[in-house]
Amino acid sequence: MSNGTDLGPADRSRSARTAAIALCKGLGVPGSYHVTSPSGRLSFDSATFDVIISSSVFTHLPEATANATLAELSRVAAPDCLLIRSSSDLGEARMPTGDVPSLRPFVLNNDLYDLSEPPHLWNIDGIDVGETATTVQGWSLPHGGNPLNRALVVNGHSFELTPADPLLEYSRIYPWCPNAIFSGFRVSIPHKVLDVRLADEVTFACGPIEGDVGGRPQYLLSVLRRDLNFEIPDTTISARIGVEQTLHYTMYGRSIFNGLDASLRTATRRSFADFTTIVDWGCGSGRVARHVGLAGLSADQKLIGFDIDAEAVAWANAAIGPHFRVSSIDPPLDVANGSVDLVYAYSVLTHLAERLAGSWVREMGRAISPGGIFAFTVLSETAMIALLPMMDRQDLLLWRKQGILDSMENAQLESMGVAGSYYRNVWMTKAFIKSLLRPEFELVSLVPSFHFYQDLVVARRRG
Ligand SMILES: C[S@@+](CC[C@H](N)C(=O)[O-])C[C@H]1O[C@@H](n2cnc3c(N)ncnc32)[C@H](O)[C@@H]1O
Repeated sequence: MSNGTDLGPADRSRSARTAAIALCKGLGVPGSYHVTSPSGRLSFDSATFDVIISSSVFTHLPEATANATLAELSRVAAPDCLLIRSSSDLGEARMPTGDVPSLRPFVLNNDLYDLSEPPHLWNIDGIDVGETATTVQGWSLPHGGNPLNRALVVNGHSFELTPADPLLEYSRIYPWCPNAIFSGFRVSIPHKVLDVRLADEVTFACGPIEGDVGGRPQYLLSVLRRDLNFEIPDTTISARIGVEQTLHYTMYGRSIFNGLDASLRTATRRSFADFTTIVDWGCGSGRVARHVGLAGLSADQKLIGFDIDAEAVAWANAAIGPHFRVSSIDPPLDVANGSVDLVYAYSVLTHLAERLAGSWVREMGRAISPGGIFAFTVLSETAMIALLPMMDRQDLLLWRKQGILDSMENAQLESMGVAGSYYRNVWMTKAFIKSLLRPEFELVSLVPSFHFYQDLVVARRRG
């Protein structure tokens, strides 16, 4: 059933639409056609329909009419009805004033994935410390489509989130999440409730107030007071890792370090302090490695960062300490066989073509001692679900079949003369990751949503 037929310009008269419906009938398109009344009231009983399709209709409705139409659609929708709306409609969708309709949105390629437990993605974009309160601004996908069912937990204190102004980009990127347009939030934390100025570390967690996130672990974002005094590299260097804001550079570095430490502890019962020779492969400007150093390396511990970005490595050596070395696009690393007991790599194998990924895993097998750990992030199921509608269907099918998808160039390293023909966005299935690791490594753990939609692989060197 369609609640209207848009055949073109928005100013078509109602009689023209009536004629279009008549035309569908005349063409013998199966179904029954009804001219709806301008009041929006549909002449059907409540809970009649299992599927409702609307293409480019909400785009043309003023807010009050859109809300009334959504309310009417939810009346005639049976429980768990599928609402199919075009992406332009999703982009323009208005938040219903009453209860949020329990309608599942239509998503391109949704037959390929179970969208009942999508990742709960969120971010902090600004922290502003005022005289009486701290204002935190960010975005969080509305859980189950309800923009009011979200809380930000800051150092154990829970704050309900009220939606900020509509932001179209979220509904474009995440059309599988109803009301993603209301992802933006701003929350005020009175100093008398929680004075973040006095806290050494501020940790944010975001999630639904009611319901859960399907057993997925939740990433946390943290920042330490002392982190805020750190020098950070200029934007030419930080843009190569896709980060533009100072807060994001600082907070993500700390959060990735904390997340790695926690995941290592869970998967291997060892934390950073328990490894002797630690390699940060693809360290960039030491965004994560600086925290390994700050955690306090003991006299018998060594940290080495390797990267092909000579400028970032020089900056890290000057700003952090002499831990960093320039390495080549191809193996080997300048370390002796079996001399390393932990290699971690944040968002490096996410960028390498299959042949190079294979030769680097073999190289890690050479460098890491038996029992040692290789922890690296991947674009896998979580990233695929998150970006599902943006992916080409043929690519998705190919990914399923081959286990690896390498169809996109990444231009982030072009400022240092490394082209997208080398630097890619590469997606791997869990089965592919397992086969990539063989024979040197066994998969110990795959942590979904480790940091946004990058998953973390923890692998142990056999031997
Ligand atoms: C997305 S960035 C992540 C940087 C760093 N891990 C961080 O989290 O800040 C990917 C990094 O991998 C580096 N890279 C790419 N190919 C590499 C290779 N073959 N060997 C070492 N580093 C490489 C890039 O120069 C870049 O610094």
